[in-house]
Amino acid sequence: MPSHKELLVNKINKKKARIAVIGLGYVGLPLAVEFAKTGFSVFGIDINKEKIDMLKKGVSYVQDIPSSTLKGVIKNRFLQVSQDYKNLTDVDIIIVSVPTPLTKTREPDISYIIDASKKIKDNFRKGQLVILESTTYPGTTSEILLPLFSKKGLKAGEDFFLAFSPERVDPGNKKFRTSNIPKIVGGITKNCTYLAKLTYGKIIGNVIGVSNSTVAETAKLLENTFRAVNIALINEFALMCDRLKINVWEVIEAAKTKPFGFMPFYPGPGLGGHCLPIDPLYLTWKSRMHGFEPRLIELASQINSCMPTYVANKVIGMLNAKKKRPIKGANILVVGVSYKKDVSDVRESPAIEIIDMLLSKQAKVSYHDPYVLSLSLERKCLRSVKLTKQNISRNDCVIIVTDHTKIDYDFLLENARLIFDTRNVYDNLSNPKIFKV
Ligand SMILES: NC(=O)c1ccc[n+]([C@@H]2O[C@H](COP(=O)([O-])OP(=O)(O)OC[C@H]3O[C@@H](n4cnc5c(N)ncnc54)[C@H](O)[C@@H]3O)[C@@H](O)[C@H]2O)c1
Repeated sequence: MPSHKELLVNKINKKKARIAVIGLGYVGLPLAVEFAKTGFSVFGIDINKEKIDMLKKGVSYVQDIPSSTLKGVIKNRFLQVSQDYKNLTDVDIIIVSVPTPLTKTREPDISYIIDASKKIKDNFRKGQLVILESTTYPGTTSEILLPLFSKKGLKAGEDFFLAFSPERVDPGNKKFRTSNIPKIVGGITKNCTYLAKLTYGKIIGNVIGVSNSTVAETAKLLENTFRAVNIALINEFALMCDRLKINVWEVIEAAKTKPFGFMPFYPGPGLGGHCLPIDPLYLTWKSRMHGFEPRLIELASQINSCMPTYVANKVIGMLNAKKKRPIKGANILVVGVSYKKDVSDVRESPAIEIIDMLLSKQAKVSYHDPYVLSLSLERKCLRSVKLTKQNISRNDCVIIVTDHTKIDYDFLLENARLIFDTRNVYDNLSNPKIFKV
């Protein structure tokens, strides 16, 4: 009688393994589509009815997945979607990509992982492989998921398989997509790592196995903490250069001519998105539980969180100094409100904090973003305005928060009275209208 491992190896190699992807968001949907395109039978599960209805009609809500591609896999039934977990008993591999936000007190909120895992457990059978992809603190897979699935007396690595594989997808990135971003996998046992590696190997060119799930969880947090800390360093550098009246952008360009030992990072209006502002706090929370206080990571997080306030205060100061205009009653246009260029995601976007702060000072704020048609704020909901001559020139100041490629920056400059360019869009251009981070 072949072992569960042998059976699964055989099914994966023949592309007969049925795969469920739980959580069809920015991470889960591209993954489900990639497996479906390769010829695997994929069941996508999401609790959001609206999303499931759209997917059934072949309408994509994830920018990197064209509806035409989605329609293809839905039509040929390689991808089937549902809100229902009951199908799970029929599948061989279950991949979980649900959100991992912070609680109101800025601690890890793994309730989505727990909810999904309990539903998986209720529909669990021997021989299945479960892979967690949601970014989380070290130990989640072995401390939270393993006991849950072992409850029925099943043994990991023999009766079932469990692994963690962090997601590295970079929405909007045209060069690196699911299939060409190297993927790390770490299982509870060697068999678990082996099977997870084999699975991803069918759609990804380079899959790297590590010794366990905790290493894989921590590697993801190192990657994002590395970025967050370096961005904090350059943000602090920018604040310092501002005081010293030195052009930080020119300093970075000069420093990056060094061909080794230096990697450029750029200052900005603050960190956004579901990863960089959040993930380092998953790590520090876990570390504190073990009596170690990570100071540098916490400090980086504090520096980055000050940037939206810095931007708002700088605008207030510039209006006062250059236009003798108080912020109360001033017209401000914010250009770009998503958390990064060329995407529509506004989660944790610094634009939201900047706009809220200016509104609290009774400024009249409007915004333009080709990807974000409406924006919910603390005080009101705004709709994106068109970038017409009139909509630009009526403002006392324009703040470029996100540097979308689509925007006509020459036209903006021509018609604006004052521009705060937080992204160095205007690079070396010297113009008294422009001021920068
Ligand atoms: N978006 C990225 O670029 C990115 C990159 C790397 C890692 N991650 C990580 O991947 C995870 C998912 O992120 P995302 O951006 O795809 O989030 P998302 O919010 O876009 O998608 C998550 C989906 O999960 C669904 N969901 C929530 N609870 C569920 C449940 N119990 N059962 C079924 N579906 C459920 C939601 O309805 C949503 O559609 C997070 O841990 C995130 O930190 C995201």
